[in-house]
Amino acid sequence: MGFCPQCLNQEALVETAVPRGHGAGVIEVVSATAGRSTVRDRNAVGIGELDRVLGGGIVPGSAILVGGEPGIGKSTLLLQVADRIAGTSGSVLYASAEESVHQIQMRARRIGIESSGVEVASVYDIDDVITTAMDRRPDVLIVDSIQMVSSSDLGGTVGGTSQVRASAARLIAFAKSSGIPLVLVGHVTKDGSIAGPRTLEHMVDVVLYLEGDADQGLRFLRGVKNRYGSVNEVGVFSMTPKGLEEVPDPSGLLTSHRDPEAPGSVLFPTVEGKRPLVVEIQALVVATDMPQPRRAVTGLPTARVHQIIGVLERHAALPLRKFEVYVSVMGGVKISEPAADLPVALAITSAYRQFPLGGISAFGEVGLTGELRPAGRSALRRSEADRLGSGPIISPEQHRRLIDAILAAENTTHGSGMG
Ligand code: TYD
Ligand code: MG
Repeated sequence: MGFCPQCLNQEALVETAVPRGHGAGVIEVVSATAGRSTVRDRNAVGIGELDRVLGGGIVPGSAILVGGEPGIGKSTLLLQVADRIAGTSGSVLYASAEESVHQIQMRARRIGIESSGVEVASVYDIDDVITTAMDRRPDVLIVDSIQMVSSSDLGGTVGGTSQVRASAARLIAFAKSSGIPLVLVGHVTKDGSIAGPRTLEHMVDVVLYLEGDADQGLRFLRGVKNRYGSVNEVGVFSMTPKGLEEVPDPSGLLTSHRDPEAPGSVLFPTVEGKRPLVVEIQALVVATDMPQPRRAVTGLPTARVHQIIGVLERHAALPLRKFEVYVSVMGGVKISEPAADLPVALAITSAYRQFPLGGISAFGEVGLTGELRPAGRSALRRSEADRLGSGPIISPEQHRRLIDAILAAENTTHGSGMG
């Protein structure tokens, strides 16, 4: 343009030659179908809960982003992944810009890493990461974290959006050209605002988020993008001093602390990907004189809970405008599906009227006019609730209106209608 479009200064622009990497010579062009039998589609890691989320395993040359809040367990999980891969199919280079080699070795000892095929290196510069990877030729390259690797010849601050994107682009290009799968670690804060993972989602093939309450023992590895498999699968792990362990029966674990005699608690069979999961939803209702009573929601969309409170006020005659309402999904599980509406409504009603719901499970969407709408996968939900030996299941399949579902719940546990 010859001038800066913002300040119109003609001297503000400096010509910069963009290095083209090692892109020289003849590019190999091959048939799309040739070599099908020799190329392995994907390599299972050997950790079932992870392979499920990955859609079977790691695809050669793919780029996988593992995001999560600091301290959630990303580094621990990936060191374990490295150990598994190195124990079966080959070597892994774990390039850390966050921790010293000594720190990683201490963690490796603590969680019982056995394989000698896991190589660790403390590297901060993107060129060093790539040079080291070219030298070691690992079967998988892990970079922890993308916010901490930097490049002296890229503008912007370390961890800033432009550096993060540029560093990621280089690593991804390396993965594609070398066929070495790349696992990138990215930190996200609770509101997802920090530069990084969100802006990288379009660049990589697979995006996994590790979630869970920082002080709860459960961790959920959720697939939010997968070019090679279905998304919304979730892997469940529990945190132990020796690292993350797979949880064979998450529903059983998630509901093991529940007190069926406590008002305000109900079971909700949710579905994550293809997997049903029974969780406990709790509500607490407390009288208040405040003109704007407090509503606090954990693990559910807050706006949705506000809507349910409105429907209960209008269609079930609960005077919730005079009460604080707290709603929480237990165990650090995050629910986004509308099928949680009915259990949320029942938990609030049970907390307000002080009657326990016993072994009742419920699912179904609640409409603004107080009607119940069917939720998908009801057979899957029912069989999981039955497997846990839960009591009656309340759903839109028996009741057309919220008020009928509430009356049915009261009748089931009281045997005597409205108390
Ligand atoms: P870390 O893997 O360092 O989290 P991130 O890389 O996401 O920031 O884990 C945080 C802390 O939790 C660390 O001190 C190790 C500990 N931890 C365990 O003791 N057991 C576990 O199963 C996990 C996942 C972490
Ligand atoms: Mg870490």
